[in-house]
Amino acid sequence: MAVKERRCLSKCYWIVAILIIFKSGVLSEDVCTKDENENCKAHPSFYKDDVTVLTVATDENNGLERFLRSAKIYGINVEVLGLGHVWSGGDMNYAGGGQKINLLKDKLQELINAKNKEKIILFTDSYDVMFLSTLEEIVKKFKSFPDTRVLFSAEQFCWPNTNLATQYPTTEVANPFLNSGGFIGYLPELLEIVNFKEIKNNDDDQLFYTMAYLDKSLREGLKISLDHNSVIFQNLNGALSDVELKLNTTEDWPYIENVVTKQRPLIVHGNGPSKLTLNNLGNYLAKSWSQRHGCAICEEKKIELKEDLLPNVMMAVFIEQETPFLEEFLVSLLEIDYPKQKIHLLLRNNVEFHESEVDTFFQSHSKEFLTAKRIKPSDLIAESEARNIAKDRCMNSICEYLFSIDSLSRVEPGTLRYLLSSGYDVIAPLLARSGQAWSNFWGATNSAGFYARSHDYMDIVYRGNKGIWNVPFITNCYLMKISTFQTRFTKTVSYTKENVDADMAFCASLREHGIFMYVSNEENFGHLINPENYDITRTHPDVYQVIDNKIEWEKRYLNENFSINFEPNREHLMPCPDVYWFPMMSARFCQEWIDVMEAYGKWSDGSNQDSRLEGGYEAVPTRDIHMKQVGLERQWLYILKTYVRPLQEMVFTGYYHNPPNSLMNFVVRYRPDEQPSLRPHHDSSTYTINLALNTPNVDYEGGGCRFIRYNCSVHEMRRGWLLMHPGRLTHYHEGLLVTKGTRYIMISFVNP
Ligand SMILES: *[C@@H]1O[C@H](CO)[C@@H](O)[C@H](O)[C@H]1NC(C)=O
Ligand SMILES: *[C@@H]1O[C@H](CO)[C@@H](O)[C@H](O)[C@H]1NC(C)=O
Ligand SMILES: *[C@@H]1O[C@H](CO)[C@@H](O)[C@H](O)[C@H]1NC(C)=O
Repeated sequence: MAVKERRCLSKCYWIVAILIIFKSGVLSEDVCTKDENENCKAHPSFYKDDVTVLTVATDENNGLERFLRSAKIYGINVEVLGLGHVWSGGDMNYAGGGQKINLLKDKLQELINAKNKEKIILFTDSYDVMFLSTLEEIVKKFKSFPDTRVLFSAEQFCWPNTNLATQYPTTEVANPFLNSGGFIGYLPELLEIVNFKEIKNNDDDQLFYTMAYLDKSLREGLKISLDHNSVIFQNLNGALSDVELKLNTTEDWPYIENVVTKQRPLIVHGNGPSKLTLNNLGNYLAKSWSQRHGCAICEEKKIELKEDLLPNVMMAVFIEQETPFLEEFLVSLLEIDYPKQKIHLLLRNNVEFHESEVDTFFQSHSKEFLTAKRIKPSDLIAESEARNIAKDRCMNSICEYLFSIDSLSRVEPGTLRYLLSSGYDVIAPLLARSGQAWSNFWGATNSAGFYARSHDYMDIVYRGNKGIWNVPFITNCYLMKISTFQTRFTKTVSYTKENVDADMAFCASLREHGIFMYVSNEENFGHLINPENYDITRTHPDVYQVIDNKIEWEKRYLNENFSINFEPNREHLMPCPDVYWFPMMSARFCQEWIDVMEAYGKWSDGSNQDSRLEGGYEAVPTRDIHMKQVGLERQWLYILKTYVRPLQEMVFTGYYHNPPNSLMNFVVRYRPDEQPSLRPHHDSSTYTINLALNTPNVDYEGGGCRFIRYNCSVHEMRRGWLLMHPGRLTHYHEGLLVTKGTRYIMISFVNP
């Protein structure tokens, strides 16, 4: 009997019969040592065949890591051939790979010398392969193939030489052609196959095995078969519509089914262009994620950050386009929860409009960081070049991680720490425009490398499924462990590619080099700004952003006490009968709103002729500017609907108009030398709102509003507070005399 290794565990309280050391492979006898061993948990019934699992990998990349993880999940011991060797097998997107055979040849020879004729060898590729079951099941299925000593996986394409298709014995099957990414067979036969002729390292391995198979005497003599129905091996290229992700309801883990052949493949291979599909499936398979178990792969790599050993991070900030609420963005950089003395700041601005603000920020805060460097618009550096500078500075060992953040990103302070502790090399926090499916990652790409929607995109964006996801494209904000690039690929990972955006070029180059990108939606990390309708020709363009960037807008422009209006049992202020008073807008809103009007400057002349109105006639004219004139009509109607209507519904109960309709929305200016007051009148509204934009006894003297029927006046207007009252019949009113300064109010006649 050959020397055998026993793989058992303490949990299997089996009595040790004989202690034999086994060279490699799975269990050989149904006896156990008391040693703790993962395999025993995975194999309740012990596996009796002598199997060696081999792969070739010269590079310890993310694909190999995923492969080995899947092996571990199913208790499979893999021997990796070629690690540390220089790969001379060519670019695997093209023909090549002979080196794999040469490495295998040596190994098989070594094994045969140990004289174990009935040894079974399972060989697979690794970078684009995952195990989906135990070795026991794989071998069982292999043995169920009739009259077969060697079984190769099969696919739909005859590659690399399509002309050979006619030489295949059977082509009227699901997957007619040999694929060399996976095979299983007995050692003596396999050794004969790999020795059937010489192969150079850069010759094609698939062609080599194909020639062996097409050789009738070899095929029949060695009993070589192809796994046409994907009983064991599923090659994904050409088979994407054959394969479906399903859920095993017994164990609640996803698996794949070949719906054409009705098989549940045990090994999946993302051959050729299907690598990205495997990346997607790999998010679920091999017990990576399920609804019930959650995200297993989120925990496996977690690093505990030690406060005294925090890594140095380069925070590379990119302002590439005109960005709403840049002020808040710059502040958010300071609020990131990480010691600034561990941060190298690189602040790149390419927008002249923002330069003075960025400059002020840099002057005030650059000294707080470990180092600080900036790139200005006047440096005339292209985006891709600026991004390369950040990466290269980091690679020249001034930092361990590069945290790249664009001005459109708004992240929670804990985001950087989360990303660092995730243990992933290239990882983005999920950020999406609020209320939209627009995000900072793609779930899939099409063949031209552009956006395509994946089956799980919505589940990820809306966080129905939470986890860490391998995706083909990330942008706007991500963390990269810089040593990932200090490989033989260093020189070619770049943001620069002709006619391609910097981020697309970069992600394409990561994909080409098999570096996985992940997006995490485990937690809520923040959101993206929507810059689409940002018009910097406006005065205070941010105040126009209530619809596109509501989160920032509310924070800056709503009164900090607005929400108090909605506290249960609140007694609303009522300075006159049925005249309600609410805190609504911030002081900053009021100032910017006035600035917008004054910058526009075309106040009406106060006469009865008003060409802005349908009839051209105004009975009670004021000096005013309509929202339409300053491009704020749409925004103001949105404000009425979103913030004013809920207030109205609280105090004038039973009256619902959503959205509220208002034809007259305008800012009025009262001043002694122009129009200081307004005579008694009814408004053409169901209710009127009157928002004070400045402060009595500070900005002006006098003023206020008097309701004649009640002989009641509101004098002490509060800036940012809203008066709301019925428009006609009971609330005949007048605007009181302003004796000094200028009073501004914003008026709407709602539901005329
Ligand atoms: C589902 O899981 C159970 C328990 O592990 C297993 O016995 C069964 O074969 C699985 N079914 C499929 C379709 O994978
Ligand atoms: C909000 O309410 C608090 C408490 O009444 C007050 O101190 C604060 O000044 C208010 N803020 C504004 C902007 O009015
Ligand atoms: C209206 O109110 C003012 C001040 O409160 C008072 O002086 C005046 O007499 C009132 N007028 C009428 C007609 O009640």
